[in-house]
Amino acid sequence: MVYEGKAKKVYKTEDEKKYIVEYKDDATAFNGVKKGTIKGKGIINNKMSALLFKILEEKGIPTHFEELISDREMIVKAVKILPIEVIVRNIAAGSLAKRLGLEEGTELKTTVLEFCYKKDELGDPMINEYHIKAIELATEEQLEKVKDYALKINDILVKFFKSKGIKLIDFKLEFGLYDGEVILADEISPDTCRLWDAETNKKLDKDRFRRDLGDVEKSYIEVLERIK
Ligand code: C5P
Repeated sequence: MVYEGKAKKVYKTEDEKKYIVEYKDDATAFNGVKKGTIKGKGIINNKMSALLFKILEEKGIPTHFEELISDREMIVKAVKILPIEVIVRNIAAGSLAKRLGLEEGTELKTTVLEFCYKKDELGDPMINEYHIKAIELATEEQLEKVKDYALKINDILVKFFKSKGIKLIDFKLEFGLYDGEVILADEISPDTCRLWDAETNKKLDKDRFRRDLGDVEKSYIEVLERIK
């Protein structure tokens, strides 16, 4: 094992350029303060990430995804993760709604990109592009690629989810370096996206766990069923 995170384990393989990612059912929120299990979540996040990575690859976004090897495991390219979380927002919710005093569900006139420094002991603080360059979390060229991909990924995913009756409110991306190039890594799942039913605005994502809204497992299953 090379890494164990809150929701995933990463293993080395015989091929030093490939890792195996195993998706767990463990769930945490509020930087690990709230802990729990969402039964079957690992299976759903594995399958959903694979499906979305394939769609993105077809549209020209390089990703770390190689192949699904079991319900909970995929083979990925062994990237070096950039220590930056990229948050993409289409509609105000969560921490943005709170910070700016907006009602959740308020439409944003343009897509908002935010960055956080991936550092558990600091609680992943929000940073801007100047911080990224000043403490060398990425080069200017890498940062431009990250921003360009994040906006393109948003366009592709907003359209995709819309066709399935789901609004993509916001989501988090992580990128890594592979052969010196920036590629999309980590996962795209109801753990990392806010997904609302287009008709009813019912939350179909991890906010059901964070906010004790019930139907957590059911909502994860519903998202996968709708998009597959
Ligand atoms: O909490 P906040 O509103 O800033 O989250 C924005 C988006 O980023 C949400 O979709 C959330 O699920 C995702 N996120 C994440 N991992 C984090 C922080 C946020 O997947 N560590």
